[in-house]
Amino acid sequence: MKFTVAIDGPAAAGKGTISRAVAARFGFEHLDTGLLYRAVGMKGGDPVLSARSLVPADLARDDLRSLAAGQAASQVAALPEVRSALTAFQRDFARRDGGAVLDGRDIGTVICPDAEVKLFVTASAEIRARRRWLELGGEAAFETYDEVLAQVRERDDRDMNRSDAPLRPAVDAVMVDTSDMSIEDAVAFAVATVSARL
Ligand code: C5P
Repeated sequence: MKFTVAIDGPAAAGKGTISRAVAARFGFEHLDTGLLYRAVGMKGGDPVLSARSLVPADLARDDLRSLAAGQAASQVAALPEVRSALTAFQRDFARRDGGAVLDGRDIGTVICPDAEVKLFVTASAEIRARRRWLELGGEAAFETYDEVLAQVRERDDRDMNRSDAPLRPAVDAVMVDTSDMSIEDAVAFAVATVSARL
C-alpha cells in the first residue's frame, strides 16, 4: 500500500512529535526532511555539491539539532539547486510500500502535491521559541529566550519569503494550530485525520 502523510509548518510547531506519533500508530516510515537540509548546511563547502553527495553518515552527526544547524539549513534551503538535489530521494521515500510520513516545509506543496493527507502545523512565534528554548535547556541554555525568539523569527522570515518552495500551507491542507493545544490533543487530531482517509 502506498499512502503519504505530508506534515508541514514552521520550526518548533510540533511537526516532529506529531509525525513520529502518526508513523508509530499506523506503522508508516517517517522522514524528517529538515535533517537533510541541516546535514547539507553543516557539511560545509559548496552546498550544491554537498546536497548531491549526501550519505547516511552525514545524517548521523550529533550536532544537527543545534540552533546553528537550523540557521545553516535555512540558508542552504533557499538555493534551488540544493532543493532539486534532494527532491528525488524525498519522493521515493514518500511512495515506498507500507506508507510514509514526511515532515518539512514544502512536502504538501512541492514534494508530494498528491499526498493522501496534508497537515499544516503552526503555533505563535513566542510559543514556538519558548518550546525550543526549553528543549535547549531553559535557564541553563547557552542562548536566552530572546535570542531563540529572534532566530525563530529570522528563520520563519527566510523560509516564508524565499522564491523557491516558500513555506506556506497547501490549499487542501488541514490546519492545526498547536498554540493552545496539548501535544496529546494535537496527536489525537492528526491520527483521526489520517484514520478518516485510510
Ligand atoms: O524542520 P527543521 O527545523 O529541521 O528545518 C531546518 C530548515 O531546513 C528550515 O528552517 C528550512 O529552511 C529547511 N527546510 C526546508 N524544507 C523542508 C525541510 C526543512 O526548506 N522540507
